[in-house]
Amino acid sequence: MKVLVLGGQGMLGSDLVPIIGQHHEVVAPAMDEFDITNREMVRDKIMASPPSVVVNCAAYTQVDKAETDCEAAFAVNAFGAQNLAIACAEAGSALCYVSTDYIFDGTRRMSTPYDCAGPVNVYGMSKLAGERMIQWAMSRFYIIRTSWLYGWHGRNFVEAILERAAGSDDLRVVYDQVGAPTWSVSLSNAIARLIETDAYGIYHYTDDAGDGVSWYDFAVEILAQAGIAKNIRPVTTPEFPRPARRPANSTLDCTLIEMLGIRRDDWKHSLKRYIEGRKN
Ligand SMILES: NC(=O)c1ccc[n+]([C@@H]2O[C@H](COP(=O)([O-])OP(=O)(O)OC[C@H]3O[C@@H](n4cnc5c(N)ncnc54)[C@H](OP(=O)(O)O)[C@@H]3O)[C@@H](O)[C@H]2O)c1
Repeated sequence: MKVLVLGGQGMLGSDLVPIIGQHHEVVAPAMDEFDITNREMVRDKIMASPPSVVVNCAAYTQVDKAETDCEAAFAVNAFGAQNLAIACAEAGSALCYVSTDYIFDGTRRMSTPYDCAGPVNVYGMSKLAGERMIQWAMSRFYIIRTSWLYGWHGRNFVEAILERAAGSDDLRVVYDQVGAPTWSVSLSNAIARLIETDAYGIYHYTDDAGDGVSWYDFAVEILAQAGIAKNIRPVTTPEFPRPARRPANSTLDCTLIEMLGIRRDDWKHSLKRYIEGRKN
């Protein structure tokens, strides 16, 4: 089948494009050729050559900046998604939208796709708005929510910790926010499998971190696997203030996607493969 990937140059998209390309024809235009905020461009491009599936990895992902840049976040994450959904509905293409744990308020553990959303920051609100726009405009959609993503092709927590560990700075990491670290290659494999089904709906995919780990646990494991001996000081969220509020518990129940036969990778195993891969 023909698959159009948007945001194909981003962290997730860079891993996803070659993985889908193993079995399908994949097209991944750069942002200047395909800007999802441009409704006319989106419609023209999709109608000119309708793909079987559009996978949207294009997003406004700067969580803290979004607090003061609300319009830009909504333009991409909400109205960009709406533009794609309207065009896909007209062209008869399915749409896969990558969403986030940040649509939840973090007061529950293991949120299911049926749980009520309640974002606590602008980024989460804009992504939830994108999910809703899609559901209002079309029916053949896959919404796949994930969390704590890291990959070889973007700024991420693993790189930030390794960078800070290499410097002389004191390493302080919060221990009171819990989630599931997810390697972009694991998520890409799951998306590639999901879009081959006609099981449209809302799914969660994260690497398997049991009941979840804290950012502190994640940082300790990163240094252990990288063979770096350096102390990390666990701190609370109020000791490490950020412009955007974060949900305290970001863990997602992934049963629904597992019921499709899509297996999840163990988070420590994924991290090992990521660290080995970056050495090469
Ligand atoms: N990173 C995480 O921890 C995380 C967690 C949960 C969910 N997610 C979701 O996972 C998806 C992928 O995230 P990511 O980390 O791979 O993001 P990313 O590295 O920031 O990539 C996003 C891509 O979208 C492109 N883009 C931005 N605005 C666009 C527009 N108007 N039209 C077309 N392309 C546009 C960006 O291009 P430029 O680089 O040129 O701006 C970039 O290539 C997103 O939907 C995100 O919300 C991420």
